[in-house]
Amino acid sequence: MNFETLRWNEGRLELLDQRLLPQRIAHLSLKSAKEVARAIREMAVRGAPAIGCAAAFGIALEAFRLKHLDKESFLPALDEAFSILSESRPTAVNLFWALDRMKAVFDPGNDPETSAIMLEKEAKSIFERDVEDNLEMGRNGSKLLPEKCNVLTYCNAGALATAGHGTALGVIRTAFSQGKAVSVFACETRPLLQGARLTAWELAMEKIPTTLICDNMAGFFMKKGEIDLVIVGADRVAANGDVANKIGTYTVAVLAKRHGIPFYVACPASTMDMKASSGDEIPIEERNDAEVKGYRGIEWAARDVSVRNPAFDVTPHDLVTALITEKGVIMSPDAEKLSALFSS
Ligand code: MRU
Repeated sequence: MNFETLRWNEGRLELLDQRLLPQRIAHLSLKSAKEVARAIREMAVRGAPAIGCAAAFGIALEAFRLKHLDKESFLPALDEAFSILSESRPTAVNLFWALDRMKAVFDPGNDPETSAIMLEKEAKSIFERDVEDNLEMGRNGSKLLPEKCNVLTYCNAGALATAGHGTALGVIRTAFSQGKAVSVFACETRPLLQGARLTAWELAMEKIPTTLICDNMAGFFMKKGEIDLVIVGADRVAANGDVANKIGTYTVAVLAKRHGIPFYVACPASTMDMKASSGDEIPIEERNDAEVKGYRGIEWAARDVSVRNPAFDVTPHDLVTALITEKGVIMSPDAEKLSALFSS
């Protein structure tokens, strides 16, 4: 990979601005939690693990920004940063998981300078751990891929959505690097085109054979026997194995079931929410009308038409062939198997 999604650079958080890809490569240099929350909300950074890493660095940034304050003023100001970041996007649980980890290392008894150093250390460790988990997921998941296969993926679950390597694309990357003849069908992913803009860009850079298709073409290619398996990422997995991922994932899972094609979900344990007993308890973000009515300043829809724009959907666990995690592969995931994963 010759790009970095997020980079901690001498007390600044640098983000590759994903809104502009692939036409422009530009970076944002962020100095406060508020700026990070905005970058998450506006999707300059996106993808569940990347959002979690950004939020963790957002807390570290804020701690450094406020370290000159006395303890009494530092605590409520940092608290405010936690709440601003937690309100940036609702569905990807990695955001809340990362903020909880940052909270857990924060000791209000410490002076602000010491707190800032400890929070920076924790944010870096969340970031580094994510890369390791992705590499491990890649090793675990690649065993499921035949020597020669066509893999359909949806949205972007690649290096751009994580600290590096990627979840679903991480499995594909690892299999490809092992010499397997993997060819990818990337669904464009309306409305924000993460498949067309981001997945196709990432894979092209590594010369992994990729065919871009519109979302509504998936069934056509499955029926023709051109897809061997599906791998997607996840934004939140409930305790029973239900999977929230980019809107349209559920449709692909139903199609895969219809055609007897394995449907795999690659996600780290940090994407699993054992407090949500099923997908019904996962909050689904609804975004603005403009994203459906047009893109980058071009409007194509009738002006006054009413719009719905849920950003995610939930795939019931009985449609999931396996969850690929850094702790191993869970075939036919259910509540019992997920609970065993967390107690081992
Ligand atoms: O709205 P986005 O682009 O943040 O949605 C991203 C996805 O749905 C990804 O598939 C998911 O976060 C997995 S990322 C490894």
